Amino acid sequence: MRRLSGISLGILFIFGLTGESLGFPWNKDMARQPALQPQGQATPPSPAGSVPLQGKEPAISREEAAKIRNPVPATAKSIENGRRLFHIYCAVCHGTHGKGMGPVATKFVPPPDITQAFFKARTDGFLYETVRRGGPLMPGLGEALSPRERWDIVNYLRRLQGQ
Ligand code: HEC
Repeated sequence: MRRLSGISLGILFIFGLTGESLGFPWNKDMARQPALQPQGQATPPSPAGSVPLQGKEPAISREEAAKIRNPVPATAKSIENGRRLFHIYCAVCHGTHGKGMGPVATKFVPPPDITQAFFKARTDGFLYETVRRGGPLMPGLGEALSPRERWDIVNYLRRLQGQ
């Protein structure tokens, strides 16, 4: 009897030491389950070649996009929405007036004053594609913005440029 309790105490001691007594192998049972994991994707990615309902945007360069005509009229509503989005997505680098020196600009590469004549001369399509895919240094923001929202930003940018 004494010996038996000695052995079980020993076993308890070993398992206790390794921490196995708390879990093995059932410690992972709850983790391995079909439920959605944190940061997981709710639906599987679309099968190869499938096209989203709203259509798929072709992968074109900014130079090619320069020829695209702006389909969104610069109404007060579009400009107002563009202003709102510009303040969320662009002002951190470009500043609220597009002249540069947003809070991130001081830590990153200071962007140019995009109200200057050089950028005024860019076509709407070129600016649209800049928002979508970024520039040599500027990150693309296409993932975060719908095509309509990008055109609204272009319309607001034109307003900032005094057009
Ligand atoms: C992380 C900082 C950052 C953010 C956010 C950012 N930009 Fe830029 N942007 C830059 C930098 C740096 C440049 C200059 C270098 C380059 O063109 O890549 C630039 C360049 C530009 C240009 C000039 C492109 C050209 O060559 O004619 C335009 C226009 C522009 N940005 C618009 C926007 C708009 C609109 C947004 C918001 C949707 C935005 N940027 C968000 C950093 C940023």
